[in-house]
Amino acid sequence: MAKADIFSKVPELNYSEPAIETDFDAFKAVVNSRRSIRVYDATPIPESVMRECLDLALLAPNSSNLQTWEFFWVRSPEKKAELVRLCLSQPAARTAQELVVAVARPDFWKINRERMLEVLTQNGEKGAGYQYYNKVVILAYSLGFLNLMGFFKRLFVYFRGLTQVTPRIPTSSTELETWAQKSTALACQNLMLALRAAGYDSCPMEGMDGVRVRKLLGLPNAAKVCMVISAGKRGKNGVYGPRIRFDNSHFIHEV
Ligand SMILES: Cc1cc2nc3c(=O)[nH]c(=O)nc-3n(C[C@H](O)[C@H](O)[C@H](O)COP(=O)(O)O)c2cc1C
Repeated sequence: MAKADIFSKVPELNYSEPAIETDFDAFKAVVNSRRSIRVYDATPIPESVMRECLDLALLAPNSSNLQTWEFFWVRSPEKKAELVRLCLSQPAARTAQELVVAVARPDFWKINRERMLEVLTQNGEKGAGYQYYNKVVILAYSLGFLNLMGFFKRLFVYFRGLTQVTPRIPTSSTELETWAQKSTALACQNLMLALRAAGYDSCPMEGMDGVRVRKLLGLPNAAKVCMVISAGKRGKNGVYGPRIRFDNSHFIHEV
């Protein structure tokens, strides 16, 4: 299969997954009732609910299915107390029943590429999917020693892009981080919607010291804290005010 065909050709598959019936009203109720909760009551979240919601987070769409994320459900009382402090002792953290640190792992593309090749090999897949992970992923996400490959990639995509449709990222560690953060943030949203669907509430927080949080969790420099998510049941004054959104004409454009 020629290189360009990997993207444009529909592969011949012996697989189908019918779309099940879903409840749009139930989904709207979840999305509409999710608010950022700053004060929680004392209701605990059952362990099984937390586990299910975390599992649902991992079902978020993610770039190249390379799953460049980690979620740390902070359960040790000492670590939890320190995490609250690192979240500036915000009430959203201080009063929470549970705290989860979502971490983007741009470096995970390598190990997860290998895992993917293993799964594809077990499944007897040698076609475009295998080629994608075997070759394209390396070209797309390698930056090389001292970002040398990223530098040359940047030049390459610039000149190629002058005349041809060219995927342009990532060519630097910043772009690779952004790439991983996007997928991690989608998983965070899955987690928060899952909690709401299960009858609980949440608050995403980037009002925290990401470097100290990373150190608290004993993570390497390559790990980038995306956000801390607090969870629990909303207290009486847990929602600080009615939801404010500007007119959708500012944001939704039909072109
Ligand atoms: C990435 C991100 C970081 C946030 N950080 C904080 C935070 O540190 N503390 C806080 O109280 N709320 C935080 N929020 C919540 C926002 O303030 C909230 O989503 C926004 O005001 C809209 O309100 P709503 O979530 O109730 O619709 C954050 C939200 C996001 C998406």
